[in-house]
Amino acid sequence: MSLLDEIRVAAEPYPDKKSAVMSGLRLAQHEYGGWLPPEALVEVADALDLTPAHVQAVASFYDMYHLAPVGEHVVEVCTNLSCALVGAQQVVDAFSEELGIRPGETSGDGKVTLRTIECAGGCGYAPVVVLDHRYREPTRPEDVRVIVEELRNG
Ligand code: FES
Repeated sequence: MSLLDEIRVAAEPYPDKKSAVMSGLRLAQHEYGGWLPPEALVEVADALDLTPAHVQAVASFYDMYHLAPVGEHVVEVCTNLSCALVGAQQVVDAFSEELGIRPGETSGDGKVTLRTIECAGGCGYAPVVVLDHRYREPTRPEDVRVIVEELRNG
């Protein structure tokens, strides 16, 4: 089944096709290897009779959609208030140092992308790190070396 058809099938339960835009983006991101190039946004728009600008606006609002290529693994550190109060920036700094990159960048070997994100919804267990969509909470700076080793070694 083509991506276009998959998105149209996903939209069937919705009375308004526009409501399926997030499902469409998820399917497209999977199809395009973990990120959404402009042509993926056009495909989602075509499938749902939306404009690419509308689809891009949704994709750029949510942290789980990537508008640039990402590494094999994605490390996301929540830096919102609850996490910030218990040391999120030190966790970001530890990942930056260990990986040799800044937030928003991917390691030279293409293995790991580091990002900062808004509240991940785990405030009671702060600081929260999301590793390939799995929560690791709380994460302390001293945990980072082992986490990076595990990511690099698969
Ligand atoms: S502020 Fe970090 S999970 Fe809510």
